Amino acid sequence: MSVSWTLPFDEKILPEDRSKSTTAQDYAKVHRKSVEDSREFWAGVAREMEWFRPWDRVLDDSEPPFYKWFVGGELNASYLCLDRHVKTWRKNKVALIWEGEPTADGRPTEVRTLTYYDLYREVNRLAHLLKHRYNIKRGDTVGVYLPMVPELPAVMLAAARIGAVFTVVFSGFSSDALAERLNDAGAKILFTADGVWRKGKVLDLKPIADRALEKAPAVRNVVVVRRVGGRTAMREGRDEFYDSALKEVPVNAFVEPERTKSEDPLYVLYTSGTTGKPKGQVHDIGGYLTLLHATMNWVFDVRDTDVYWCSADIGWVTGHSYIVFGPLMEGVTGVMYEGALDCPAPDRWASIIERYGVSVFYTSPTAIRGWMRNGEEWVRKHDTSTVRLMHSVGEPINPEAFRWLFKAVGREKVPFGSTWWMTETGGILISHLPGLHMVPMKPGTNGPPLPGIDADVLDEAGKAQEAGERGYLVIRKPWPGMPLTIYKDPKRYVDVYYGRFPGVFYAGDYAVKDEDGYFWILGRADEVIKVAGHRLGTYELESALIQHPAVAESAVVGVPDEVKGEVPVAFVILRQGYTPSEGLKKELNDITREKVGAVAAIREVLFVSKLPKTRSAKIMRRVVQAVAAGRSPGDVTTLEDEASVEEVRSAHEALQHEVRGGKSS
Ligand code: PRX
Repeated sequence: MSVSWTLPFDEKILPEDRSKSTTAQDYAKVHRKSVEDSREFWAGVAREMEWFRPWDRVLDDSEPPFYKWFVGGELNASYLCLDRHVKTWRKNKVALIWEGEPTADGRPTEVRTLTYYDLYREVNRLAHLLKHRYNIKRGDTVGVYLPMVPELPAVMLAAARIGAVFTVVFSGFSSDALAERLNDAGAKILFTADGVWRKGKVLDLKPIADRALEKAPAVRNVVVVRRVGGRTAMREGRDEFYDSALKEVPVNAFVEPERTKSEDPLYVLYTSGTTGKPKGQVHDIGGYLTLLHATMNWVFDVRDTDVYWCSADIGWVTGHSYIVFGPLMEGVTGVMYEGALDCPAPDRWASIIERYGVSVFYTSPTAIRGWMRNGEEWVRKHDTSTVRLMHSVGEPINPEAFRWLFKAVGREKVPFGSTWWMTETGGILISHLPGLHMVPMKPGTNGPPLPGIDADVLDEAGKAQEAGERGYLVIRKPWPGMPLTIYKDPKRYVDVYYGRFPGVFYAGDYAVKDEDGYFWILGRADEVIKVAGHRLGTYELESALIQHPAVAESAVVGVPDEVKGEVPVAFVILRQGYTPSEGLKKELNDITREKVGAVAAIREVLFVSKLPKTRSAKIMRRVVQAVAAGRSPGDVTTLEDEASVEEVRSAHEALQHEVRGGKSS
């Protein structure tokens, strides 16, 4: 397949005052050279970090695609994020400014600032607790189901300190989703909280964790952070409050950081794919930290004077890499915010920028589109002129959203990019690089691949596409930060990422390269949808729906949404004896929330009597997707029954009609 693609824009913005600005052609030369000898190139980057022991081999490629970086090297993530700084003037520099969601008179009522030394002390005490009280050993798994509280990065760092592997489950996931991940990862202990503030309300987390724990018997101990207060049911002998447990640890406890190997696992993070079972991405230590070190400097250009804010949640990879390990390793002052960016009013985010003087801002297209809808007057209530650099992540950025933030906060001059990466890649791989060589920006693009990253766009047959032709995004050579494997499923790792085009990593995204060598990532090429930048497998939602006794079959597809990018819509065939009703729709919505979590809220459930299928009875999701998005279904010659397309179309049109008719009024 070779589909020609018309680029949406050819306009370029060259920011003023770019000391490091370069042309796309000059950057391409630098890039080519770095990729030719990518091992030596990455070794140069890794040498900038502090290792307990240098590596013997830059890359072990004896068992592709299970690559190992910096083999023989020893280092410790907690040491690099903390100990290294407390030996310098950064000891009492602020590491984290944490702000809780509640406000009074529009001002936050809870702010905690932790210096590098504060965090160092907390992490040491936690490491002591893990080791001596809970008997967690190197290689054991620590489960984490915490909201955005400072204890979350502390637990991650403490686990890393003793060489334990952590697995963080996003606090918006349901008990079933939590149980599945804890079991798969083999967690022995769980850190959670009594609750969290979200959109002005308290959400109880511990009862969700308790329900998960009923199904995760290997978890022996549960440590509960008191976030919201009030009564929380605790199970004797298993549960303990975080503050009470820490009270028993000497205040100056010191735990020697473990000499972990570069290729040891740092964490397992689950992500959605095209089957119902989430994939546990296992990230190493040495390669992962090398990529973060590089990107914090090239992409975010961080300096000691910066206040850096990444508005993601640590429950997703963005937070792992760019709230916790990246910024702390570089000794940056970071902002961490607990709640919703528009709570209590649409200007909360702009007020955070103003109050802390944020200079580097990392956010998402969904957030930007929400602010855009609320109007620029909300931003103008605040002085956001401290911002000198911005990036977005998670989904393609539409040029309108780009332009809006570029003007509203960027004053039409600060560098602003859309960093492409995924849970699998560990860190940013395609982006503008204001800290290295800034090429002209173009609204909507992701920019060129990083130095040392051999990205390309291939057609169906694996042939490289010409500039302007749409194809599949791949990364040809191994890069530091790549997964070690899928936890307990190496075969799936090979099939999913290296099965499509042998020898190269298949990202699952459509992309196009332009004549300047910039990449434009256009969206997923598989059955994964991005809802507000969160990755959801449509199959996960279908697996949840099928558990309802009324559901015979279903197809969940993503349809475009003005703010969230995409939202899931379910087409459902009912079993005999069931009839469509509003009540049933609600039950089906509830079941997806229960099985997956609130992140999986289905926008609409549409009842149909047939779905487009191939003659071998496989649902043609591509056809359903096209019809639901209002497009032509394309080639339907393999369809078993063409009338099914009409059914889907009329169900969808009825919905549109209902919406236009003001259903909610
Ligand atoms: O489709 C791409 C999209 O997000 C996917 C990865 O999702 P996840 O693993 O949840 O990681 C998100 C945060 C790193 C990609 O396959 N994506 C991510 N960033 C961008 C993007 N699409 C376009 N532009 C981006 N900047």
